[in-house]
Amino acid sequence: MDNRTFYIRTYGCQMNESDSERISGTLIDNGYSMVATPDEADLVVLNTCSIREGAENKVYSDLGRLRILEAERGTPMQVAVAGCVAQQEGEKILSRDRSVDLVFGSRAIGKLPEMLPRLEAGERFAELNVHTRPDEPGTHVRADGHRAFVTIMEGCDNHCAFCVVPATRGPEVSRRPEGIVAEVEQLAAEGYVEVTLLGQNVTSYGKGLDTDFADLLTRIHAIPGIRRIRYTTSHPKDFSDRLIDTLADCPKVVRHLHLPLQSGSDAVLARMGRGYTVAEYRRKIDRVRAKVPGIAITTDMIVGFPGETDADHQATLRAVREIGYFNLYGFKYSRRPGTTALTLDGHLDDEVRSARLIELLALQKEITLERHASLVGQTREVLVEGESKRNASRLSGRLEENVLVHFEGDPEWIGTVRPVRITEATVSALIGEVH
Ligand code: 5AD
Ligand code: SF4
Repeated sequence: MDNRTFYIRTYGCQMNESDSERISGTLIDNGYSMVATPDEADLVVLNTCSIREGAENKVYSDLGRLRILEAERGTPMQVAVAGCVAQQEGEKILSRDRSVDLVFGSRAIGKLPEMLPRLEAGERFAELNVHTRPDEPGTHVRADGHRAFVTIMEGCDNHCAFCVVPATRGPEVSRRPEGIVAEVEQLAAEGYVEVTLLGQNVTSYGKGLDTDFADLLTRIHAIPGIRRIRYTTSHPKDFSDRLIDTLADCPKVVRHLHLPLQSGSDAVLARMGRGYTVAEYRRKIDRVRAKVPGIAITTDMIVGFPGETDADHQATLRAVREIGYFNLYGFKYSRRPGTTALTLDGHLDDEVRSARLIELLALQKEITLERHASLVGQTREVLVEGESKRNASRLSGRLEENVLVHFEGDPEWIGTVRPVRITEATVSALIGEVH
């Protein structure tokens, strides 16, 4: 069937963004064209996330809105639900919502070319649990011509008590290094200057392949044309001295490390099953700061995990203050289906969890502002990303530290690295000038 149109909406993390790029590329390879609103689309894909509570309900309410839209416009719309909610709910989605035609998990994306003719013939079905190696990257439609996501692994073998990911994305599987290197070489040839290596747990990359993440970084670092290498997410328990030495030896690997601590209390970390203590984590931070001076560290933190006492919470605030993160993503603990945290005692009221989150975020805001203010007066390299969203006469870009900078400049600079003098700092961004 030719000339079919699709619209895709992405929820959640960068892994999902990358999956959506691949879903879009596959659809285009199969004769579809992308449109900017669901109203114009023959096929709407919702690429969903289930990391926190309420995600399923959000998907069902979006599906309701699509049903209304379809009735209003009077022409048929097919709907596919992909991603983590698809994997978690499976066939249930088909029976609960008659407007859904296809449900597929993130590991079934490679089978889309076989699914499409069935979908187009009017079949309603779910494609889950296809466990293939993510070796073939497929075609991606990338949002930006200068920065690209590259998936290096899928799934997670850890079993953090709060986390639904091992259930939705399955066990860890690493892509072969040759395929990753070839993909990055191709990106460099197309003019990309920054890659972000993606995986649920990149620091354990290479299991079963006789290689590891440090080796992979070294190989990617050697590719001419690539100026910045980002990676996410790292796990403290696999963040090794060898990897720290590699970060120090590879200047194109950005001076930014996202290292989720999750809690500043050893008792809570143990109940979460994280596999490290606060002191062990801090030793790694000290070491990476000594070897890579100026590295900006960011983190994820969960407040209100079952059994978290006020003293545990104070320990989290203390850790945040002492470590001095550039930024953090703070979350209220939320109950996820099938996770072991559900069976723990001491689940806390929403009131307590909310109050703790407000306190944590207020503290981080002060620290972020201090960190940003410390950059004022410096001239730093900025990778120019585009016109500023708020003010089209301005450009915006990022420091290695991943901090956003706004400045006046020529749109021709987009995709290049420019020296920018930082003149002002706010919590959300920096202001600078090129001279
Ligand atoms: N409740 C709250 N936050 C969670 N995260 C993962 N699962 C949960 C949950 N059940 C957070 C963790 C993780 C980030 C991506 O989302 O901090 O690092
Ligand atoms: Fe979830 Fe823990 Fe795996 Fe991260 S490392 S995806 S938090 S189980």
